Amino acid sequence: MAATLTLYRTTIGKKAVMAITGFIGYGFVILHMIGNLKIFEGAEGFNEYAHFLRTVGYPMIPERGLLWVLRIVLLASVILHVVAAIQLTRLDWASRPKGYRETRRKQATFASLTLRWGGLAIFLFIVYHLAHFTFGLGIPNFGGHETAYQNVVAGFSNPINVVLYIAAVGALGMHLYHGVWSMFQTLGLNGPRTDGFWRGLATLSGILLFLGFSTVPIAVITGLVR
Ligand code: HEM
Repeated sequence: MAATLTLYRTTIGKKAVMAITGFIGYGFVILHMIGNLKIFEGAEGFNEYAHFLRTVGYPMIPERGLLWVLRIVLLASVILHVVAAIQLTRLDWASRPKGYRETRRKQATFASLTLRWGGLAIFLFIVYHLAHFTFGLGIPNFGGHETAYQNVVAGFSNPINVVLYIAAVGALGMHLYHGVWSMFQTLGLNGPRTDGFWRGLATLSGILLFLGFSTVPIAVITGLVR
């Protein structure tokens, strides 16, 4: 425990925490995106799937037991990811020469800007998203978890939500592109010869996630899913 804390105090320790917690979040969004595509199977298929997520493992483990374990792991990962990001940003700012505003601006690369501001936007989106689909904010006839399909259709019948979600998953795609690439750097897997490969993989995963997630609001607003 003491060794872990000592490692965390170093920059590389904080970056390792960012890489591991980011990877957990990444795994979640991929599974969530694939799961969302079940909307094309219709109301019964989608609601059955939502029900399965809540009861998986039952009766061997309590109903919603696994769901809560996953929620706690995910929440802890998000908190650690955000805390380490804030601490690394502070260290980064503190290490810059003082009084050279120009240098400071130039050094804030596009990647670091999209990671920090994009990260903040995604965090705000998650808060809105939970209020929206989990607690029913602004959804007419919200029926709770058992009517997940109807909730999604009602939610995206409002064009403001369609625009908001597409913008958020756009920010997510960019964030994951930069995040996946910097994870390979942190883990020391990247070098001059492999850079093109990892960058290609990071780009592909960012684009696929953006397309996979935005398909659902687009399908609802165009009437393909209703
Ligand atoms: C078009 C995109 C998306 C759609 C249609 C969608 C849909 C849903 C739905 C229907 C639920 C279940 C609500 C419930 O019954 O409790 C849910 C939960 C959730 N979504 Fe999304 N989602 C989208 C994008 C995202 C993104 C991009 C993230 C993360 C960055 C995310 C994170 C979550 C989380 C954390 C939960 C709560 C899981 C739980 O604890 O039950 N979603 N989403």
